[in-house]
Amino acid sequence: MMTSFSQAALGNLLEDAEKAAKMSYSPYSGFKVGAALRLSNGEVVTGTNVENVSFGLTICAERAALVRAVSQFGPGIRIEAVAVANLNGAPSPPCGACRQMLAEFAEPEAPVVFPAADGTRTMRFDEVLPLGFDMKLEKNTNRG
Ligand code: THU
Repeated sequence: MMTSFSQAALGNLLEDAEKAAKMSYSPYSGFKVGAALRLSNGEVVTGTNVENVSFGLTICAERAALVRAVSQFGPGIRIEAVAVANLNGAPSPPCGACRQMLAEFAEPEAPVVFPAADGTRTMRFDEVLPLGFDMKLEKNTNRG
């Protein structure tokens, strides 16, 4: 169970994600996703998926929110909670690429709430991404 976030606070964050999903640019998949990040500075930053005719260039809602958060509040941001929603009534946990990107800034215990097959599900970030890539560099070796 999550500790520091009330169900009400997570519910509000989900509503923010749903609102963001309404802005989706998804003419190719028709899948409208929204994400909302609650930052440790108290701010909420949202994002939506923006597709491209060259399909691989599409950016997911979660990464759109993340780049927006860093752009607005700088490199020191910490993510305390994540909410994902879609307007298609389908399960949509954050994709692997988004998990790895969020890992850079997310607290391990941050709740991640998302639509799952059995309804809305909440998991800790370190459960959602148990073994993300990280570089444990030895002092200054390997830095060119
Ligand atoms: N999508 C997201 O926005 N977030 C995810 O975590 C996975 C997928 C978007 C990308 C694309 O526009 C659409 O959903 C269908 O894959």
